[in-house]
Order: sequence, then structure tokens, then C-alpha cells
Amino acid sequence: MAKDPVRVLVTGAAGQIGYALVPMIARGIMLGADQPVILHMLDIPPAAEALNGVKMELIDAAFPLLKGIVATTDVAEACKDVNIAVMVGGFPRKEGMERKDVMSKNVSIYKAQASALEANAAKDVKVLVVANPANTNALILKEFAPSIPEKNISCLTRLDHNRALGQIAERLDIPVSSVKNVIIWGNHSSSQYPDVYHAVIDGDKPVREAVADDAWLDGEFIKTVQQRGAAIIKARKLSSALSAASSACDHIRDWVLGTPEGTWVSMGVYSDGSYNVPAGLIYSFPVTCSKGVWSIVQDLPINEFSRKKLDATAEELVEEKQLAYTCINE
Ligand code: NAD
Ligand code: LMR
Repeated sequence: MAKDPVRVLVTGAAGQIGYALVPMIARGIMLGADQPVILHMLDIPPAAEALNGVKMELIDAAFPLLKGIVATTDVAEACKDVNIAVMVGGFPRKEGMERKDVMSKNVSIYKAQASALEANAAKDVKVLVVANPANTNALILKEFAPSIPEKNISCLTRLDHNRALGQIAERLDIPVSSVKNVIIWGNHSSSQYPDVYHAVIDGDKPVREAVADDAWLDGEFIKTVQQRGAAIIKARKLSSALSAASSACDHIRDWVLGTPEGTWVSMGVYSDGSYNVPAGLIYSFPVTCSKGVWSIVQDLPINEFSRKKLDATAEELVEEKQLAYTCINE
């Protein structure tokens, strides 16, 4: 029997990530090849015409799984009954800016959209915040949508996770599918810590053993992953879009359909004090997912090198949280 359609909201749908993401959702890449979807697309009035153009292209692409399209500039209408909300709307970082430089513009959007989601979305809506500063926007969304369970609000660090897999695969000249269990700890910012102490290739060979170059792993590798967003902006004069859209699909797919046995992924989720990360932040952890619920992978040994890096990125998130509240109260 055919499944009922799932309603998926994409905010900022007329933007560059939106343009890459909506066809992936309509093709079943996010929720599966047998899962019909109804796309809800939100943008702001200056982008209404472009949004309508995206809607026209979705119609023209004749996606068999796409059972309906809501394209609107009305946030309440966009959020109505949605089961999944991918929050991309906001202002992207330009060359020379840090992600927190887009804070004041974006946190106020997330405060307002929290209320719209709370009032209109399905009660069990799953939320993924992509727009930067992604962790802090997600935290603001959580704080201003108190009736949405905190387990249902997350931010995207899967792009960083995939970038780390990609760098290891390039270095070893192996397919990226052979590498697993890297971890992104902390903030989706240049303070994030891409950790390969528990990563393996080909099922069980430690990445550290395979790479056999600690200086590279502890130096250039970490820096490359931390700075990859800036490198893309420098090269494209635009921030990453196809990789962000694809990683957003990976994030939701694994959350809803489950992570493969023996594999974890990185998600920005509400911290509960695990790994001595302060509670009350949206912080990226290694997680496994089953039946639509994520759980932080517990009891991984953390050495002194890693500990410092976990703490540094937590400190930045504490500062961002304070700054976000200052922006909101101004
Ligand atoms: P973009 O400028 O191309 O698109 C953003 C869209 O959001 C625009 O169409 C804009 O009109 C719309 N928008 C602005 N305010 C809005 C609001 N209040 N409600 C709804 N829509 C609104 O930008 P982009 O390249 O698609 O990037 C979007 C965001 O994603 C940026 O903040 C960017 O920094 C972030 N990003 C995050 C990651 C990640 O891994 N977390 C990766 C790439 C980009
Ligand atoms: C990325 O990581 O590519 C995005 O967060 C865009 C940015 O500002 O770096």
C-alpha cells in the first residue's frame, strides 16, 4: 500500500541551497524512494518571484513522489502541519566573515520562526537548522518553541562530518564509502573539532594506523575541515550549496530511517552533559539513530589533545549563546 505523504518544509527555498535541496527531496533522496512528499517552500517577499520559478521547475520535472507544493511567503502557511522542517532561510556568510558575523540578522529570524513552527507544525515535527550560525540558531529556535521536544531540534554538522570522511579518503586514495566513524564535536564553525581517533577504514582498521602521519592528522587535516566552508566561499564566491543540500538529506535520512549497524554520524543536538560538555547548548556529538530517535554514543575515550578541543568549541558556543541573547534583546 502506498505510504501517506510526508510534509517537508524548506525555508529560504529560493536560495542556492534551497535550489539544490528541493529536487533531492522530491526524488526521494531524503526520505526514501517509496516515500511520497509534499514540499512546503518559504521565502521572503523580495524572493517571491524566484520562489515561484522554483515551483514551476518542480512541476516541470514531474517527480513521481511529489504529491503537492506549497510555495509561500507566509510563515504560518508554510509551517502548517509539516513533519520535517529544514531551516535554510537566512543570510549567508561572505568572504572574510566568520559565521558568527551573520548572528544578528539570523537569530531574530529563528526566534520568529520558532513561534510559527510551534503554532502550526505537526506536534512531532523534526527540525534541522542549516542557516548560520547553525548551532546557535537551533538553540534560539528551541528556546522560543518550548512545546517542540528538545530531541526534535538539531543543526547541520553532517556536512563537516562528510568533509572529514572526504579528506581521509582523498589522503588514502580510497573510496569515501570505506571510511566511517569520524566525529565532529561542537560548533559548525572554525572551532569545530574533527576527531579521527575512533575512525576506521574497511570495517575495522584504525584511520590513524592507515594514515600513519600524526602530524598531518593533528594539523593540516583538522584545519582543512575547519576551514572548508571558507575555502568554498573563496573559490565559488558563494557558500557551499550542493554539498550542504546533500548532507542535509543524509542528516534527515539517518535520523528518520536509522544509522547503519556499527556506524555513527555527527549531529548538532541539545547537550545533556555527556562528555562533560555544558548542558543547554546545541553541540555536535557522535550519534546513532533508531526509530526516529538519536542517541549520543557514550563512553568513547577522550585523550588530552581531544579534551582541549572539545572544551574550546564549547566555550565558543557559550559565547555565541550570550551574543545571540544580546542581539535578540537589542
Ligand atoms: P542564499 O542567500 O542563497 O539563500 C538564502 C535564502 O533565504 C534567500 O532566498 C533569502 O531570501 C531567504 N531568506 C532570508 N530571510 C528569510 C526568512 N526570514 N524566511 C525565509 N527565507 C528567508 O543562501 P544559501 O547559500 O542558500 O545559504 C543559506 C544559509 O545556510 C546561510 O546562512 C549559510 O551560511 C548556511 N549554510 C550552512 C551550512 C551548514 O553546514 N550548516 C552549509 C552551507 C550554508
Ligand atoms: C559551510 O560550511 O560551507 C557553510 O557553513 C557556509 C559557511 O559560511 O562556511
